[in-house]
Amino acid sequence: MDPTIGRVLIDRARIALRVREIGRQLSAELESDLKRDGGDVMRHPDRIVLMPILTGAIVFVADLIREMPLRLSMRVVTVSSYPGTTTKSRGAMLRGALPQDLGGRHVVVVDDILDSGHTLALVRELVLEQNPASLRICVLLRKDVPRPPERQVHPNHVGFDIPNEFVVGYGLDYNGFYRNLPDIAVLEAGE
Ligand code: IMP
Ligand code: MG
Repeated sequence: MDPTIGRVLIDRARIALRVREIGRQLSAELESDLKRDGGDVMRHPDRIVLMPILTGAIVFVADLIREMPLRLSMRVVTVSSYPGTTTKSRGAMLRGALPQDLGGRHVVVVDDILDSGHTLALVRELVLEQNPASLRICVLLRKDVPRPPERQVHPNHVGFDIPNEFVVGYGLDYNGFYRNLPDIAVLEAGE
């Protein structure tokens, strides 16, 4: 049987509160980065770049940017996970090109969840190659799973630490579905 939606792990009200907090913290950090750079934001009209990883981050980033009263622009990237039967053969692959104008800018990578670390370790490496002024990683969820040294990612902002369960909703999918659930729920194996 198909899996079904199980209990709600994090409801929409808690998500909204946390997203607001993260938006405020990030904005304060970025503002002080700009000040340190030499202040005049208008002379640097495109200094802050948010980079959501599609498709899972769409709902999170849509809410997050509305809690960030700053001048910012966005570059989206699409990363697919390639399935493998063993942890070793699994991985992440960039679909299309990474925007090439990140050098000297303050980049904030936004993703829905840090799980195996393949996705964020890959994106981090590719962004750093362009020498951004700074790089922050912001995830809504971080799963409690072991990650080997090459996939250690320490996000600057984490919405919620969650147990090692498969979750859906608020952008997270199972086989492409359930992204539109407003709450984050655990997926339960079918009977
Ligand atoms: P990674 O394993 O850290 O590379 O995460 C890869 C991607 O898998 C994430 O960006 C999510 O889109 C997806 N993912 C990981 N865990 C879950 C989950 O529990 N539910 C839905 N998607 C997930
Ligand atoms: Mg994803």
